[in-house]
Amino acid sequence: MDAEALAAQGNDLYKSGDYVQARKTYTKALSLAQVPSLRSRIFANRCQTYLQERDFALALKDAKDALVIDPLNVKAQMRKVLALENLENFELALEEAYALLELLSKTSKLQDHAALMQYALTTKNRLRKTLKVDQAAAKAQAYDVGKLVHAKQSLRLNYAIAFPRELLINQWLEITVFLANEFGLFQRGLIANPIPLLCELHRPNDNVTIEVDPALVLGINGKATFQLRMKCSLSKLPEVALRVSLAKSYGLDDVLAVVTLPIQLLSQDEEIPPEPTTVDPLGIQCCRSVYVDEIDKYITLAESPGHLGIAGKLWDSALILTTYLARNPHLLKSKRVLEVGSGLGLVGMVCAFLGAKSVTLTDMDEVVPMLNYNIRLNNLQKNAVAKALCWGSPADHLEPPFDVVVMSDVVYDPTGYSPLVQSILDVSVNTTKILMAHRSRHPQEKDFFDQLDKYFTVKSIPLESIWAHESRMTDVQLLDITRE
Ligand SMILES: C[S@@+](CC[C@H](N)C(=O)[O-])C[C@H]1O[C@@H](n2cnc3c(N)ncnc32)[C@H](O)[C@@H]1O
Repeated sequence: MDAEALAAQGNDLYKSGDYVQARKTYTKALSLAQVPSLRSRIFANRCQTYLQERDFALALKDAKDALVIDPLNVKAQMRKVLALENLENFELALEEAYALLELLSKTSKLQDHAALMQYALTTKNRLRKTLKVDQAAAKAQAYDVGKLVHAKQSLRLNYAIAFPRELLINQWLEITVFLANEFGLFQRGLIANPIPLLCELHRPNDNVTIEVDPALVLGINGKATFQLRMKCSLSKLPEVALRVSLAKSYGLDDVLAVVTLPIQLLSQDEEIPPEPTTVDPLGIQCCRSVYVDEIDKYITLAESPGHLGIAGKLWDSALILTTYLARNPHLLKSKRVLEVGSGLGLVGMVCAFLGAKSVTLTDMDEVVPMLNYNIRLNNLQKNAVAKALCWGSPADHLEPPFDVVVMSDVVYDPTGYSPLVQSILDVSVNTTKILMAHRSRHPQEKDFFDQLDKYFTVKSIPLESIWAHESRMTDVQLLDITRE
């Protein structure tokens, strides 16, 4: 059988869906074919078998070989575009789609020319769109999305030790604190010169004094290690909490302080058990204490990143939403408020402090004990409760609808997008005020907003006056969401 006959046989096999045999036959035909136009045609046909089997790299190679032999091979050019598109090389695919259009303009006598032209135009338009989205995603990615350390994150001090819950007075305790962002990471170069730290009682008590050795200074590595002891003139020793903060006017004024849980001071003659008698089931490492100017209050949040992962720490978006709510308390006065994906519960608790009638803080099952702990820590049991709400699961137990729904930093995992939209639908009506603080975390997040757009109108709230520091957290957006 000659090359032409083998090529025809290959075409029949292809039509019958036997791409493997078709390919073998084309390969045999190629070994015999001498005429350039025939060789180019066979390469283009073998390319098509690879496309069918989604082996786009080999398809691209055959298409290229076909075009080297015959640059006017329209089918080869079409298949080249398709292979490049499937290899997600959209930029080159678009260039080749333009080349296809040019080629078609030179080959107007071709059978089905009008249909081919239409196909080429559609392909070109599709690629232009894809490329735009792809470039936007790439740009977002190159910007800050998903980056673990960037200049817009707030910085926080942390204790490197799990602080004891009882402490003998006059006894030295070694402490290390370190500076990190919301992911617990520190970027070298952030601190040019050592910065003094302040170590104080979180609630002042004139009868307790703190002695620190050596002088408290945060090094350029973002760490400080020092010894500390407390003295007390009272016979009934109090509970205290210790706050370490960064001194102001050293260029990092907006760093969040770190606080301990309450520590019971003990006298020298009291015995502290050598080992903890009970293991803290919540694994609390330290507390974040957020001062809310408008109500002149610290909201204290026990953090447990070791046990609860992302739910066990405070995220920047919560700080932005908290500031906005504190400046707009009328939104909350006497309202039934729901927080979705509460984490440590800062936003929900600030709503309770700002006059909400009742606040329900929700998160996954395993986060609820921590939320309850933080509600008690802030004495908010009267108007705040914690309940489980796993996104996408029924919300009837929460007794929806709510007057206000608040959320911060909940759009980060594409698998959560649809369930979250479902939950927002479940708890709202068209009069519900829905506020979401959002930091871009994933290039695919457009999918979430596309889904949200089907049921809600989403508007951005200007925040210029909210940011405490011109370079930090300015990428956090606040969204006002209304059900249609
Ligand atoms: C990045 S944290 C934000 C926490 C808190 N809102 C803040 O801003 O500090 C995301 C929160 O969403 C919660 N979450 C994630 N997926 C969830 C789901 N499917 N159902 C309920 N909560 C979820 C996590 O447990 C976590 O508390």
